[in-house]
Amino acid sequence: MSDNNIIDLKNITVEYDGEQVLKGLDLSIRDGEFVTLLGPSGCGKTTTLRIIGGFVEPDSGDVFFDGQRINGVQPYRRQVSTIFQRYALFPHLNVYENIAFGLRVKKVPEKELKVRVREAIELVGLRGFEKRHIDTLSGGQQQRVAIARSLVTRPKVLLLDEPLAALDLKLRKDMQVELKNIQKTLGITFIFVTHDQEEALSMSDTVIVMDKGVIQQIGTPQDIYNEPVNAFVADFIGESNIVDGVMLRDGLVRFAGQSIPCVDKGFEKNEPVDVVIRPEDIDVVEKGKSPLSGTVDSVTFKGVHYEAIVDVDGFKWMIQTTDLIREGEEIGILLNPDDIHVMKKSEYSGMFGDYSSFSDEMDTISQPDYDPEGESLPAEDEE
Ligand SMILES: Nc1ncnc2c1ncn2[C@@H]1O[C@H](COP(=O)(O)OP(=O)(O)OP(=O)(O)O)[C@@H](O)[C@H]1O
Ligand SMILES: [Mg+2]
Repeated sequence: MSDNNIIDLKNITVEYDGEQVLKGLDLSIRDGEFVTLLGPSGCGKTTTLRIIGGFVEPDSGDVFFDGQRINGVQPYRRQVSTIFQRYALFPHLNVYENIAFGLRVKKVPEKELKVRVREAIELVGLRGFEKRHIDTLSGGQQQRVAIARSLVTRPKVLLLDEPLAALDLKLRKDMQVELKNIQKTLGITFIFVTHDQEEALSMSDTVIVMDKGVIQQIGTPQDIYNEPVNAFVADFIGESNIVDGVMLRDGLVRFAGQSIPCVDKGFEKNEPVDVVIRPEDIDVVEKGKSPLSGTVDSVTFKGVHYEAIVDVDGFKWMIQTTDLIREGEEIGILLNPDDIHVMKKSEYSGMFGDYSSFSDEMDTISQPDYDPEGESLPAEDEE
């Protein structure tokens, strides 16, 4: 455990109804970091946050805060605050009282309470909204109240469970920038949950990719994008062609019927591997001017580039190019050695990375059915 870790999870398991939803999670988070838990629905993101927040006790494993074991410590005694997946604001209280709530519970003297609530209101840009009732606010404004309410208790760690999921795209982008600024201003640790890979890449210092209760990869956004550890991560982050291959020797990999120079090394001679090629890294050249070639199945204009599905040796690749190519055309495919990323085979091999059934659908950003009603409601307590 290094000195500047604010949170350490050691070998955490959680089981519900005989089903393991966290399978021996190990995780360290440095003080002041913006960390994102990223993964598909049901992979255990919220459960991980609830372990840190103290709302769920692990079946086994240890939770450390600043080096102290905190298993069994009540949530309100942890220096951690949570913005829940549904904001759980109190609908019959005004903005001011919603934000003041946590301080009233802690019996903070009225004078100090006033100062801190004002500070929090300033921070999220809600000055003038103090007396407004929650149900008269827009989604974005409610979101700000939820942030202010969590920050007013001055936590060392803020847990944010898909806080932007209920917002439309434009507002979501604005709030991404604002949240990032708030985090920088306060210098506290943010642990942010999302299943939107673009949001994770653009906001985080560190991204933790999860699937089925297991951490698949921890790294900087660049690491995760450029050096995915397996086919799951490669597929989940951005678009990827993932092709079956064989590592002939260091720096030479065989796939699609050709032996192609690459920069990867450290594999066994003739080890079966998965090869990732990002659609934007592929150069389209005249047929015959490169070892690989393919036939264009379809082309879609995307504004910045064309997106083509190309049959390469019976496998459908996605290629993004600014060159005009036409359906039915035969093209050459040129890959620089560092455009190829070789991965070990995993349980995910063969499951992803082929565009034969690709339809041009929107990435699904789930909209949790938004519920402005709170959970437990405090008694009416107006200023
Ligand atoms: N209290 C509970 N009782 C039974 N099963 C639960 C409980 N809480 C979570 N689970 C199950 O544990 C698994 C992980 O749930 P979790 O809420 O952590 O997922 P998530 O990654 O946050 O998903 P989402 O993106 O949909 O919010 C799911 O299969 C879920 O159904
Ligand atoms: Mg969740």
